[in-house]
Amino acid sequence: MDFQDNLELSLGKLKTRKKNATKIVPFVALAILFTLIPLYYPSLHPKKLSQVLSSSSFQSNSSYSSSTEEKNEKIITTPSSSPQINVTRSDTLVAAPQARFINHTDEKCDLFLGEWVPNPDGPYYTNMTCFTIQEHQNCMKYGRPDRDFLKWKWKPDACELPLFDAHQFLQLVRGKSLAFVGDSVARNHMQSLICLLSKVVYAVDVSDTTDQETKHWEYRDYNFNMSIFWAPYLVKANKTEPNNTYQPFNLYLDEPDESWTTKIQDFDYVIISAGHWFFRPSMFYLNHTLVGCLFCSQPNVSQLTSFFSYQKAFQTAFRIINSLENYKGITFLRTFAPSHFEDGVWDKGGDCVRTIPFKRNENVLDDYNLEFYKIQLQELTIAQKEGKNKFRLFDATQSMLLRPDGHPSKYGHWPKPNVTLSNDCVHWCLPGPIDVWNDFLLELMKREAIDE
Ligand SMILES: *[C@@H]1O[C@H](CO)[C@@H](O)[C@H](O)[C@H]1NC(C)=O
Ligand SMILES: *[C@@H]1O[C@H](CO)[C@@H](O)[C@H](O)[C@H]1NC(C)=O
Ligand SMILES: *[C@@H]1O[C@H](CO)[C@@H](O)[C@H](O)[C@H]1NC(C)=O
Ligand SMILES: *[C@@H]1O[C@H](CO)[C@@H](O)[C@H](O)[C@H]1NC(C)=O
Ligand SMILES: *[C@@H]1O[C@H](CO)[C@@H](O)[C@H](O)[C@H]1NC(C)=O
Ligand SMILES: *[C@@H]1O[C@H](CO)[C@@H](O)[C@H](O)[C@H]1NC(C)=O
Ligand SMILES: *[C@@H]1O[C@H](CO)[C@@H](O)[C@H](O)[C@H]1NC(C)=O
Ligand SMILES: *[C@@H]1O[C@H](CO)[C@@H](O)[C@H](O)[C@H]1NC(C)=O
Ligand SMILES: *[C@@H]1O[C@H](CO)[C@@H](O)[C@H](O)[C@H]1NC(C)=O
Ligand SMILES: *[C@@H]1O[C@H](CO)[C@@H](O)[C@H](O)[C@H]1NC(C)=O
Repeated sequence: MDFQDNLELSLGKLKTRKKNATKIVPFVALAILFTLIPLYYPSLHPKKLSQVLSSSSFQSNSSYSSSTEEKNEKIITTPSSSPQINVTRSDTLVAAPQARFINHTDEKCDLFLGEWVPNPDGPYYTNMTCFTIQEHQNCMKYGRPDRDFLKWKWKPDACELPLFDAHQFLQLVRGKSLAFVGDSVARNHMQSLICLLSKVVYAVDVSDTTDQETKHWEYRDYNFNMSIFWAPYLVKANKTEPNNTYQPFNLYLDEPDESWTTKIQDFDYVIISAGHWFFRPSMFYLNHTLVGCLFCSQPNVSQLTSFFSYQKAFQTAFRIINSLENYKGITFLRTFAPSHFEDGVWDKGGDCVRTIPFKRNENVLDDYNLEFYKIQLQELTIAQKEGKNKFRLFDATQSMLLRPDGHPSKYGHWPKPNVTLSNDCVHWCLPGPIDVWNDFLLELMKREAIDE
């Protein structure tokens, strides 16, 4: 994607020119993420959005669960021919190590089931010690007043999750390489990792472009490389109108996005993720044929759901990974991290102003969050059964569901006079709760190392 285009489009009403690109680009990533639906569907309200996104099989008891009458609208849901698989955590769980040298790691322990507990020692870096915090996640810089959200750690029910240990991580990945494939939330994760590692060593940026989307980092002392590949849809996609980001995207749901599928063969670890982009207007293609769309205005095109495209995208991505002859790495599926807009949708004043985590029963996974999560687990299970490559669950969903306090909200930029910018309840402040993803990552890698 061309950020310059987006910049113009998204910030046009601010009368900002391109000059300051490096500073404002990151915000654009958020802005465009949420700019499209209202342009096309100014009257779309949460009830309707949820309804369009919902599949018939989907059990929701949220405030906007759909009534029978609403279901009669012309909505085609996820095909019922999709495989009926019992997804249980034990199907998808990483095999736990038998070895003993890793402390606190019970082989029965599900890292991802647990709760946030106080950790007075956090955080482990600041915007003064880490240079890779993207502006729009630099919440302290933009005046976030509270600090309590930095004082928590994740406690799995059955064991301890050790805090990230940069030395240990770097020893473990010596001579290896790690790739992130996904959108700006994947980038958020990568930047958290760079910050946590910066305690020991700084990465060298060896990217061949200046954009934020594809980056390559080297940790030369450790012969460790890290890259990120921009693939918000995982599959091949382009804009319906090259110069107009407000127009829907074409998604070729059964075709690989070669910008990453041709690159990952050399990597030892790949962390794949996708999510929020699937709510944007898009045209769906299968076998080079338009089969439907999401939020499009052509009357003769079937309205399909986000679930349809999400499932197909993961099917295709995992199928391609399983077909890569030379890829010997481990693929981690980092599951969907829910957003936390309250008291309104993202463009109607919705915000995330809480300052402490939810307790485990204060928030439940429901509605489209649940459906996205289920789709991911289903497709992961299918990919694992294929058995050609190693797929592992990296379950970020439950832990992040409980962190409404971890988003930038309005502290991802300075206020702009006369302009209402939507609050960011999608990405995560750095430092912040997303740092736990690297606690998970190290622990998952340790388990793999023991298995080897
Ligand atoms: C669904 O929500 C309603 C209203 O919030 C509540 O009264 C009811 O108990 C809920 N049902 C279930 C099954 O959770
Ligand atoms: C799914 O689970 C249900 C209830 O546990 C069981 O009856 C059914 O046979 C399972 N189906 C498959 C395909 O494993
Ligand atoms: C394992 O944990 C115990 C108790 O917390 C500690 O005494 C011991 O030193 C740890 N061992 C290793 C190898 O870290
Ligand atoms: C870091 O955050 C502080 C507020 O805690 C802010 O004053 C400062 O400008 C920020 N520095 C950078 C480099 O982001
Ligand atoms: C890291 O990248 C450098 C430069 O491309 C390459 O020479 C080196 O072999 C890579 N190391 C690993 C572990 O992939
Ligand atoms: C998008 O890609 C498809 C398939 O390669 C191509 O046919 C189409 O012309 C492209 N659309 C645009 C607007 O570039
Ligand atoms: C898109 O913009 C570029 C440069 O601004 C221009 O050269 C090109 O003709 C435009 N393409 C279309 C289809 O409008
Ligand atoms: C794809 O479309 C072509 C013709 O456009 C057709 O011959 C082929 O059977 C289709 N493949 C599938 C898998 O539907
Ligand atoms: C839908 O209708 C438009 C306008 O009549 C036409 O250009 C387009 O090809 C049609 N699309 C399909 C999928 O039939
Ligand atoms: C904001 O609005 C006020 C009143 O409408 C106007 O006087 C002022 O010039 C505007 N400021 C900017 C930066 O546009």
